[in-house]
Amino acid sequence: MKKILFVNACVRGEQSRTLNIARRFLEEYKKQNPEDSITQLDLYDLELNYLTSETLALREQLLQENNLDHELFNLAKQFAAADKIVIAAPFWDLSFPAVLKVYIEQISVQGITFDYKEDGIPVGLCKAEKLLYITTRGGEFSHGFAKEYEMGVPYIKAICALYGIQNVISISAEGLDIVGKDAAEIVNKAMEEAVEVAKTF
Ligand SMILES: Cc1cc2nc3c(=O)[nH]c(=O)nc-3n(C[C@H](O)[C@H](O)[C@H](O)COP(=O)(O)O)c2cc1C
Repeated sequence: MKKILFVNACVRGEQSRTLNIARRFLEEYKKQNPEDSITQLDLYDLELNYLTSETLALREQLLQENNLDHELFNLAKQFAAADKIVIAAPFWDLSFPAVLKVYIEQISVQGITFDYKEDGIPVGLCKAEKLLYITTRGGEFSHGFAKEYEMGVPYIKAICALYGIQNVISISAEGLDIVGKDAAEIVNKAMEEAVEVAKTF
């Protein structure tokens, strides 16, 4: 039985196209892998806090004492222990909502999700073999001049490299807020892709 962690950074609930694509993926995944467990983390319900001078000092003190039992590290330990990870986040301000960055800040803990070798080279400590990143965008960023301004997928790939997660797959639906585009059709296509990805994820 594999442990799947689903990180939901979508704030618009039922309205969220990103969440609906993720749900379609998970539905198919569950069908294909009924014995696996899926834990859903709704980031907006967690009341996450960005690191402050106090929490950073506490974290550093705990790390120096090698005390990883503190609740401050629960999210990092959960992320590090997952076999497969799915993140759903809309494209906001050229990357993703701040709540996901705050979550990443919380899970990026040296000694839990990554570490450094003696020569200073980072080494990933996460168990996950794969991570699927699902996003939707109002505009089009997969081609043309805008491509280099898409910071969501490259950021997730980079942080996964630090965590030791080799296989990062992304599914995106874009152009959803462009007048004249058939947003429902674009979302449907992404759902079909999600179903295909679920068969081998
Ligand atoms: C706060 C905010 C910031 C956004 N920033 C961008 C952006 O930088 N580029 C873009 O193409 N669309 C942007 N959008 C549009 C969303 O990417 C698009 O509507 C997306 O499909 C929303 O996903 P959802 O339906 O899952 O909420 C933004 C939307 C919001 C609410």
